[in-house]
Amino acid sequence: MSRKILVTSALPYANGAIHLGHLVEYIQTDIWVRFQKMSGNECWYVCADDTHGTPIMLRAEKEGITPEQLIERVHGEHFRDFSGFMVGFDNYHSTHSPENRECANDIYGKLKAAGLIETRTIEQYYDPVKQMFLPDRFIKGECPKCGAKDQYGDNCESCGAAYAPTDLISPYSAVSGAKPELRNSEHYFFKLSDPRCEAFLRQYTARDNGVLQPEAANKMQEWLGAAGENKLTDWDISRDAPYFGFEIPDAPGKYFYVWLDAPIGYMGSFKNLCAKQGLDFDEYFKADAKTELYHFIGKDILYFHALFWPAELQHAGYRTPTKIFAHGFLTVDGAKMSKSRGTFITAESFLKTGLNPEWLRYYFAAKLSATMEDIDLNFEDFCARVNSDLVGKYVNIASRSAGFIAKRFNGQLAPADASLPAIKAIQEAAPRIAELYEAREFAKAMREIMALTDIANQYVDSVKPWELAKQEGKDVELHAACSNALNLFRLLTVLLKPILPVVAGKVEKFMNIAPLAWGDTQGLLAAGHAINAYEHLMTRVDPKLIEKLVEANKESLAPAVNPENSHKSAESQQRHAQHQQNEIKAERPWEPFCNIDDFMKVDLRIARIANAEHVEGADKLVRLTLDIGNNETRNVFAGIKSAYDPAQVVGRLTVMVANLAPRKMKFGMSEGMVLAASDTTGKTPGIFLLSPDSGAEPGMRVK
Ligand code: 2FM
Ligand code: ZN
Repeated sequence: MSRKILVTSALPYANGAIHLGHLVEYIQTDIWVRFQKMSGNECWYVCADDTHGTPIMLRAEKEGITPEQLIERVHGEHFRDFSGFMVGFDNYHSTHSPENRECANDIYGKLKAAGLIETRTIEQYYDPVKQMFLPDRFIKGECPKCGAKDQYGDNCESCGAAYAPTDLISPYSAVSGAKPELRNSEHYFFKLSDPRCEAFLRQYTARDNGVLQPEAANKMQEWLGAAGENKLTDWDISRDAPYFGFEIPDAPGKYFYVWLDAPIGYMGSFKNLCAKQGLDFDEYFKADAKTELYHFIGKDILYFHALFWPAELQHAGYRTPTKIFAHGFLTVDGAKMSKSRGTFITAESFLKTGLNPEWLRYYFAAKLSATMEDIDLNFEDFCARVNSDLVGKYVNIASRSAGFIAKRFNGQLAPADASLPAIKAIQEAAPRIAELYEAREFAKAMREIMALTDIANQYVDSVKPWELAKQEGKDVELHAACSNALNLFRLLTVLLKPILPVVAGKVEKFMNIAPLAWGDTQGLLAAGHAINAYEHLMTRVDPKLIEKLVEANKESLAPAVNPENSHKSAESQQRHAQHQQNEIKAERPWEPFCNIDDFMKVDLRIARIANAEHVEGADKLVRLTLDIGNNETRNVFAGIKSAYDPAQVVGRLTVMVANLAPRKMKFGMSEGMVLAASDTTGKTPGIFLLSPDSGAEPGMRVK
């Protein structure tokens, strides 16, 4: 009997480009979904853009557009990129949708009615200039452990320490530069620590319940704590205005935190699909649903999907996910994707460079397993595998036999030999390969398929159609050999179709057959079946394309670290910090490359120091009044006191950063920065203010 299955991939944030790291998950999910559909199951694959939160609000502001305009544009870009890699969503929606608002309000209302929502007053950093509360990742300062400057409010990228924003030394707002103030605000909490949630989650996440992979189930036991020791903490699900999101019902000025309505976005997208397709939403989401629900996610967002999300669903009276499939991260050539090395590769650049998306689908499939282990994209291995497996082995079978059928036999096939060992081998292996697809053991499935491809090639090598074609009176043998080869090719195409949907489509066209389904592995083409002209199926990877791709990505900017990820596990943050450190060590002692556009964002101007004075109570600072032309002056606090007497610098020309965000300091507002050199090794102590050559005038741009 056919199964009814709903599948999701994590919803990408609507403020960054899709890159190869994302694609691991979407390609993995898409392969699984295509396999289910080919097997005759009713399988729906939904996703959406994750559109809410502070970073999206600020990004839109920076671009001078509304958040709605930003998310609409990004939705188009994301959909284009996913389509380019043949990720076949049945619906690609948005969390900023009426369906999602309805689902979020409904779940919130039911949790509230169940006594699982509570309000509490919390103390939080507030930016007095920007007039907003600051998420942890928008507060920076000195690390309380190692003293490293400019660290985020939740963890230090230099020493890896995790802490609260209030632990930072000299905190400042990453939005305006202002010194943040602690202010009280009422927040809404989901009571995850409630004994009902704890009891449910202990049972739901238990290893023998089978919802989670064994390593994920172990992690959950750590997060839950030993029996009798409830380590779950309540979850802050509200944010204060200004915030781009859904306002909480009956709570003016309070919004659902983006991570509250993100997983609900799976429901919202499905609800939207139900309206379009006439499906029954309840059949998939009511508490006792007989249908199956699977979430594919990265291992870094397990906490949200294995704890918060099922606890919400359970206590709001809905079904819980059948299984949660977490995968590892992508590394490129053994290291974290890096902008400076050109390995932070966007989906768009991959396609624009002219690389075939099915090469990547095959390569990822050849690496993916059911575990949470990271996978590596090694470019040399990528070229070798695609060229050898797909072009050298698989496509070769058709290209060596199809031409003869067209030219010599009017396109018609002879009967296939059902007892041929190569045909029997494929037919016997098909159920085993189906199990591997079902279990997400794609690498194992690819190994089996390539072993069968070798057997098929051995058959072609043994009958040598190209020699039979040259011999008189060998037409019957040639016809049989090529017909068997094309039947083998058709069977292998069924096995590879979840990975290579475009190639499979071309094969269906040239072989003149209906769309291949999994069951077709057990049948053969009838004698006399007429095929169409052979269409070229796939070219080899030219390593020069890889060089071009890496070059193209050296210019592109990675999306900023998304501050809304601050609730990710400490382990994932630690990993992130560790990688950053490795990257810095592995590279040159100066900053990573920036492109000319980045450099041009810094507005450097000639300034005349119109006045300079000591600052009462400050050891290092001198207050400078800078004349920057056009009768405009700027007040700047410069840390030059150890090297310069204020009187000595009045009247001289220097260079300032004119567009540095104003920063509220203890002594007043600082409206820029003057440039000075210093030796960070400490060998040559001193501070050396920059001066232009004579002739420069205040206000002139420096570039
Ligand atoms: O980590 C992320 O990229 C999130 N946007 C994933 C959300 S998945 C789901 F919960 F919506
Ligand atoms: Zn530190």
